[in-house]
Amino acid sequence: MKGIILAGGSGTRLHPLTLATSKQLLPIGDKPMIYYPLSVLMLADIRDILIISTPADLPQFQRLFGDGSDYGIHLTYREQPEPNGIAEALLIGAAHIGDDPVALVLGDNIYHGPSLYRILADARAALDGCVLFGYRVGDPSRYAVGETDSAGRLLSVEEKPAHPRSNLALTGLYLYDGTAVDLAKNLRPSARGELEITDLNRRYVESGRAHLVNLGRGFAWLDAGTPESLLQAGHYVHTLQERQGIRIACIEEIALRMGFITGAQCHRLGARIAHSSYGRYVMAVAEELTTAAATAASTAV
Ligand code: TTP
Repeated sequence: MKGIILAGGSGTRLHPLTLATSKQLLPIGDKPMIYYPLSVLMLADIRDILIISTPADLPQFQRLFGDGSDYGIHLTYREQPEPNGIAEALLIGAAHIGDDPVALVLGDNIYHGPSLYRILADARAALDGCVLFGYRVGDPSRYAVGETDSAGRLLSVEEKPAHPRSNLALTGLYLYDGTAVDLAKNLRPSARGELEITDLNRRYVESGRAHLVNLGRGFAWLDAGTPESLLQAGHYVHTLQERQGIRIACIEEIALRMGFITGAQCHRLGARIAHSSYGRYVMAVAEELTTAAATAASTAV
């Protein structure tokens, strides 16, 4: 499965914060926002990932991650010249996707909750058409909303409905089978001039091949598109990290745990930024997991 992170847009609700930089590079807690959606793709065991952003911002992402080899992944980059809609990511990414299934994630969406790794593995294994991820919200008419049958099959998707048929907002993570690019090619711009992801999802719904995974109440799904939500997301991450002594969306740790890099490689990544507590955490995790692996190996002999 291929991955795409869509990290463009105008970020107008965050002006002036986003006048000179990308929204997806703003800090959430101790790391840039894009670490969070990148973590999701890595946890889904996706290693071939395209990052799409504006012509002005794309070089900053390249500077941040390079070709991804430090993290045992393969990153490529493409421009979206204008914010023509989320579904345009599939057209910009057509060559990257080929005939493969693809996971598209929005660069400002943050997921945190129990067994995310397992949820993603199960969704990938069950992929037949598309899998969307729903989250109960108090104000569904602000979102795309999904209605399902008891088996989780989507019966309808509606964009910001005045009378929502459920409380389930459709979040910014979409798993598609190998037909997504062809379906996206047939989309027409909406009244607001965008290629709408909801229109693409509707095609899957109409063919009876759209499924919804309800993330459940123990989960956090946050987006960081306004000053308030940006601050809330930062507080959320900071509070959990302080309390538990762990880091959320630490891509070095995830790369190590997923087996993308070795303990020594992970340690070097931490050492490079050892003046920060983030860097020291990466080194500590590398040491801890390497020791644990060595102990397991010696007791197995
Ligand atoms: P939005 O939050 O809908 O739009 P925005 O980021 O441009 O912000 P604002 O409404 O404040 O002007 O976009 C959701 C995510 O999708 C965000 O990460 C940006 C991204 N996006 C693109 O990269 N290209 C696009 O054409 C669109 C519509 C969104």
